[in-house]
Amino acid sequence: MNIALSRKPASEIESAALILLEIEGSPADSLKASLPIAYDSGEISGKAMEMTLLHSVSGFRAARLLLAGAGKRERFGTSELRNVVSAAVRHLKSRKIKEGTLSLDPGHSTPEHVAAAVEGALLGDFEPEAFKTEKSTLLENFTVNVTAENLGQAEALQRGRIVGEAQNFARELASEPPNQLTPLVMAARARQLAEQFGLACEVLDQDHMKQLGMGALLGVAQGSAEPPALILLRYTPESGRKSPHLGLVGKGVTFDTGGISIKPAEAMDKMKFDMAGGAAVMGAMRAIAQLKPPIPVTALIPTVENMPGSRAQRPGDIVKSLSGKTIEILNTDAEGRLILADAITYAKQIGCTHLVDAATLTGSIVVALGHVNNGVFSNDAALLDRWMHAAQAQGDKMWQMPMDEEYRERLKSVNADLQNIGGRPGGAITAAWFLREFAGETPWVHLDICGTAWLDDAKPWMPKGPTGVPVRSFVHLAVNWKD
Ligand code: BES
Ligand code: ZN
Ligand code: ZN
Repeated sequence: MNIALSRKPASEIESAALILLEIEGSPADSLKASLPIAYDSGEISGKAMEMTLLHSVSGFRAARLLLAGAGKRERFGTSELRNVVSAAVRHLKSRKIKEGTLSLDPGHSTPEHVAAAVEGALLGDFEPEAFKTEKSTLLENFTVNVTAENLGQAEALQRGRIVGEAQNFARELASEPPNQLTPLVMAARARQLAEQFGLACEVLDQDHMKQLGMGALLGVAQGSAEPPALILLRYTPESGRKSPHLGLVGKGVTFDTGGISIKPAEAMDKMKFDMAGGAAVMGAMRAIAQLKPPIPVTALIPTVENMPGSRAQRPGDIVKSLSGKTIEILNTDAEGRLILADAITYAKQIGCTHLVDAATLTGSIVVALGHVNNGVFSNDAALLDRWMHAAQAQGDKMWQMPMDEEYRERLKSVNADLQNIGGRPGGAITAAWFLREFAGETPWVHLDICGTAWLDDAKPWMPKGPTGVPVRSFVHLAVNWKD
């Protein structure tokens, strides 16, 4: 998609479709004058996501106007802008219109608004149809028109493009079928990404991980014919600054059958999304490489396939993790925490001082928070605060979950240092506690993205499928790191 910035009076814009935002209850006077019948009919209310496409409106040079409902003024911020622009783009595409110009009024022309609008256009243009022979129409040209000049708009346009493309990269990866996107293919994608955007990439293979003693990760991988990998992507700032060193860790299970504790058949196909955390981390690195934050950032993606092969681990097995802690496997479907445990330990060994992980970790978080909020867990108030601010700025919804010591009790094992499940009550919290055992004193935030990484029902602004959450927040956290 070509993306441009323009500065013209809205009436002078020549475009196949001029997108005008309609705040609920306050239509622009110029429009009301041009369209008295439409407004008097009450059909144009400005309610969020309402779309009205009009042809040849007098007083405008654009071939069409798309009036896009922005909802109530007091609730309209950059998140709402991002979504309504996505919905507008999807509306245009569904009518095979390939070009659109968004008109932002002076009150909504800050760099943050411009970036959010561009992100919205890119996110709305995404279709998970790489494997369809017939493709749908995509938007070819998108222009943001601002009437108020504001320093930083052009830079924000580029930033929005980089971030939107990064999020779509993650969505593309998460929608790939599991026969194609195996752990080694995921590693190859990381290498390609590194080469294209100037990151360092290292892939630890099975033998290397054996030497290091990553028994928790390797135990999960052993039931599959597909070898595992631990993918590292490194960004180093030009200043050579070493600390703080942010580690982004993403669960990369390319398919989760549950292993010997096998999952039911229904909707098992969805388990190809079990690498969505890893995909989000890779997407974030794609943007970080271009936006160049002031601190070093390393991505760690443990990637495996969880299969019930003849060499698969059994309930009752005891494995030794890289940290030295032994783990009794009571359910082979609680595999995400096992691979993350070794990745978190390794992140600390290579010098990461702050850790954020994202994982489609538990069905339990979906019971607690539905498909709206991500569950957030942490051992450090300062890092949690940074994270919540980043997510708030980017419109990724987060809800902090409790981590009382009492929950930890449930991971005590009779036969080993820890067991890998804590029972159904508070399942997302005991899973988080399991990870915390490995994070130790290192500031850490864990995101259970199980309810948000995949959209089961299409929204006006997003098709069914992978969402790319929380790429934007990861990027924001790194790029705006101050201390
Ligand atoms: N990848 C799943 C989480 C998941 C569950 C994703 C449902 C989508 C829908 C994870 O590895 C898993 O299986 N978790 C188990 C943990 C349990 C065995 C303690 C779960 O949530 O049921
Ligand atoms: Zn599982
Ligand atoms: Zn899983």
